[in-house]
Amino acid sequence: MNAAAPGKVILLGEHAVVYGQPALAAALTRSVGVSLEEGPAARLVLPDGMPTPEEILDGVVRIARAAGRRRGFVARVRSEIPLGGGLGSSAALGVALARAFCLDEGRACAPEEAERLALHLERVLHGAPSGVDPAICARGGVILFERPDLLTQGVPHPRPTASLAEGSDIPASRARIAPVRAPPFWLVVALTGLARGTRTTVLPLRDRRASEPRLYDPLLQRLGALTLLCRDALVQADVASVGACFDEAHALLQQLGVSCAELDDVVGKLKAAGAPGAKLTGAGGGGAAIAIARDEAQALALARSVPDAFVERVVP
Ligand code: PMV
Repeated sequence: MNAAAPGKVILLGEHAVVYGQPALAAALTRSVGVSLEEGPAARLVLPDGMPTPEEILDGVVRIARAAGRRRGFVARVRSEIPLGGGLGSSAALGVALARAFCLDEGRACAPEEAERLALHLERVLHGAPSGVDPAICARGGVILFERPDLLTQGVPHPRPTASLAEGSDIPASRARIAPVRAPPFWLVVALTGLARGTRTTVLPLRDRRASEPRLYDPLLQRLGALTLLCRDALVQADVASVGACFDEAHALLQQLGVSCAELDDVVGKLKAAGAPGAKLTGAGGGGAAIAIARDEAQALALARSVPDAFVERVVP
């Protein structure tokens, strides 16, 4: 049984979404695929002979059980996106596995179910994910994603009771998810080549924010406001305004302490090459950056200005 799911970029609102602010996410045309075979035990085969960490296998087994699988299996993974590169590889893998296991049990897998099952893998890897990654990987297109239950109200955050990380069961999604209807647009996705876990920036930011909420909360709230401005600009095909949102967001993410020299360097190169706007995407600390482009020709030129990049035509 074969199944696949797209990778993703967060256009705006990463990190802020963990604190109840809205985020915009877009599916990529590049995907993660799984081929499922019968096997005596549970086995996950990652690409290029990569070893499978125990915690990942644990998340995969949870997805299998939740999908109704009672037999062993071999799940072979192929990926068109770098693993651990901030492009949603773990969520895409979770959604692809959910689809493959459900199909193998002879039933369809609705986006809501794929998203819910994929969270089993997300939470072993990310701790307390907002859920934006599996939501976009299961739905495709462009979405506005919000967890109002995580909104900060003067309490250290994420609130333990509101986290998706606790308990053995994944609760029904508390997210508000709306597709964004906008004309297609051009993005450049630039890779730093630095793999990193989402926890490495999310958890330190949680500690910094808990000790200085008055410093961090306005930055997180501004990212939420920019997300809505960026959504409106995309709907109006206003590339210059999308770019301005990206630029301000990157500066805010720097102030939050989640960028790094490699990301700042890539963003600087994209801007110097004429990008209307550029920013890190996802958790930061490595991974990838994105730039908006006016058209395909500009996107291709921007991609040539950095060491490792590809061009995406995003179709909301
Ligand atoms: O795993 P990444 O790089 O796509 O980052 C996820 C986005 C964060 O907002 C940083 C974390 C979350 O759970 O929403």
